[in-house]
Amino acid sequence: MEFPKSVNITEVGPRDGFQSISEWIPTELKLEIIEGLIQSNFKKIEVTSFVSPKAIPQTKDAKEIVGTLLQKYQSNDVIFNALVPNLFGATAAYEAGLRDITYVISASVAHNKANVKRTREESFAELKEIKNQFPDLHINLAVGTTFGCPYEGDIPVKEINMMVQNGLDIGVSEISLADTIGIANPLQMYTLLTELKQNFSDVDFVLHLHDTRGMGLANVVMALQCGIHSFESALGGLGGCPFAPGAAGNIASEDLVNMLESMQINTGIVLPKLLETVKIVKEKIKPTLTSHMAYVDTCSKGVS
Ligand code: COA
Ligand code: ZN
Repeated sequence: MEFPKSVNITEVGPRDGFQSISEWIPTELKLEIIEGLIQSNFKKIEVTSFVSPKAIPQTKDAKEIVGTLLQKYQSNDVIFNALVPNLFGATAAYEAGLRDITYVISASVAHNKANVKRTREESFAELKEIKNQFPDLHINLAVGTTFGCPYEGDIPVKEINMMVQNGLDIGVSEISLADTIGIANPLQMYTLLTELKQNFSDVDFVLHLHDTRGMGLANVVMALQCGIHSFESALGGLGGCPFAPGAAGNIASEDLVNMLESMQINTGIVLPKLLETVKIVKEKIKPTLTSHMAYVDTCSKGVS
């Protein structure tokens, strides 16, 4: 078995996690949690989304979040990113000062319609326009429902090839493969990643995994074997997609960090600080957390 010496982890909790919490999280609390993530040493954090507040009310303070962070961390070496679904959102993110965005298009036609009310072709046309208008934007194309869709079931591999090729033709900087509903299994992971690595040998894919069926970390181990070394995860295992019935949380950042560090794979993340930040989420937002390490932490403190 061959494992990398280190991996990159992008923290997506403040976007993917918070968007799934219906009760309003005050902006100051969001910022306090993001600060905790910065101190935990994440080098890239998806801090919010520039989407319609009618679709996702929780991120309506996107401009304020980004403005505050950029003012405070101008010289810091952390990259702040936001998810956008259209040109309107990309323009707002750019004007707020961001130079790194995630643009989401689902491989499933039906999920793309449900999520961003566009056909895949319309989404790609808008992505092209974003690239033309903002050539200096670092764009991560998130291919939603790569491993399965709540409406369409399995997505043929040729569709994923097409999504990746279209993104590359437009000139995106990065491609993340999203298991939006946490349905991927390790064999499927192996089959798809082997094919994609063959077809796109120069692309360093990022994996965005949900843990709905408890296969998240098993999928990470398989992906590592396939040469992937960039992952997205959310503190506490928060997350879900309001437009994908049955979607549950992302793989928990602290579980991912703990597993990788136990395997002597360097993440650069300071686990005790991350666990402290998860504790803030647990105490102040009180969501249902699926994270294992959050509970190990509680138990070990109870014993000592
Ligand atoms: N940010 C903020 N407001 C936006 C926006 C954006 N990116 N895009 C559109 N809007 C506003 C418009 O200005 C308009 O406002 P108004 O009603 O005050 O005039 C309103 O939203 C509707 O605009 P329209 O272009 O008709 O959008 P829509 O109703 O067809 O919705 C999206 C399309 C993409 C904006 C919406 O589906 C969306 O935000 N989806 C994001 C879903 C998401 O975040 N999913 C989870 C992450 S994968
Ligand atoms: Zn997600």
